[in-house]
Amino acid sequence: MVRFSKLPFRHLVSLYSTHITHTPMILAREFSRSELGRRSDFSTSTFERGTFWLNEVPHHLYAPEARKKRRRLVRGSLIAQFAANDAKIFADASELIFPHVDGIDLNLGCPQKWAYQEKIGSYLLRQPDQVRDLIRAARDRTGWSFPISIKIRIDPNLKCTQQLVESGASHISVHGRTRHQASTLPVDVPGIRFAVECAKGQVPVVANGDAWSAGESAAIRKKTGVQGVMSARGLLANPALFDGYERTPMQAVSTFIRLCSEYGFPFPLFQRHLGFMLEGSFTRVERGYFNSLTSFAGVVDYLEERGVDMPTVGDVWTPTPHLDSSGGEGI
Ligand SMILES: Cc1cc2nc3c(=O)[nH]c(=O)nc-3n(C[C@H](O)[C@H](O)[C@H](O)COP(=O)(O)O)c2cc1C
Repeated sequence: MVRFSKLPFRHLVSLYSTHITHTPMILAREFSRSELGRRSDFSTSTFERGTFWLNEVPHHLYAPEARKKRRRLVRGSLIAQFAANDAKIFADASELIFPHVDGIDLNLGCPQKWAYQEKIGSYLLRQPDQVRDLIRAARDRTGWSFPISIKIRIDPNLKCTQQLVESGASHISVHGRTRHQASTLPVDVPGIRFAVECAKGQVPVVANGDAWSAGESAAIRKKTGVQGVMSARGLLANPALFDGYERTPMQAVSTFIRLCSEYGFPFPLFQRHLGFMLEGSFTRVERGYFNSLTSFAGVVDYLEERGVDMPTVGDVWTPTPHLDSSGGEGI
């Protein structure tokens, strides 16, 4: 998410069963062009991925006890998302970032006017041949086993959707709205299911749109037949969504504060994130007061007054077993 899915937030959601996280959309041209662009657009830490139990057999085949014996601990994944329309530039950016991430995603869903005019984002939904070339160019650089995925929107032009599914991407995320539809409109479930049918079980498909709880995610999965569910606004409002929490637990709030202080985070973004997470527990007056605060210390004092316990050192870094443990890094 542009502005929002930066390191502290990705680290936070990975502590609450979000298996795959994405960077905000990065413009491949700027990223490949300058060291400064890279520094401002991307930073990571080997701590930011969670660890999860992966069932090695389908749910319906074994009893719960047998399933437990056939599962293994895996590390979560970090995907860098780019906007690009030039194969060489996309390949350059991919080559620079691929040692630091577990996959690269090409954004074909951004509906904003400026992006469409630049012929990136949702403009590419109707250019499947160009998308195929972009994916191939990146794969030539990163190696063919490295995941290069695409994020698309549904499109009344079903032929294009089908061609995108067959464009060589390692997996596909499908936002169930067209590029003209606002996020307030309901998600088109048959539209997502069409992509799943085109994929014929050969390319994993992830459904995106209106996953506001773990229950809703399971229902979307059942209705569409996808292999995964992606949430954007739901996770902003409740970073513990995929762990089954109905609303942001206070421990997530204190953990986020700790992560922001450890990694460093601009105050306006810190305040916006907390505003999203606490939206449901503020009255209108409290929200107004919270938004008027102007410093980290002011926010922390206010939340402490409201009973949020601040974590001690170590709480954030060791809640789940991590597979490796070197410090933060940036490129
Ligand atoms: C603040 C914000 C930033 C977003 N940034 C991106 C982005 O960088 N890349 C992307 O593919 N989609 C982006 N999106 C779109 C979401 O990924 C998602 O497709 C859309 O919000 C619908 O999912 P939701 O109903 O779970 O929010 C963004 C959405 C929001 C609200």
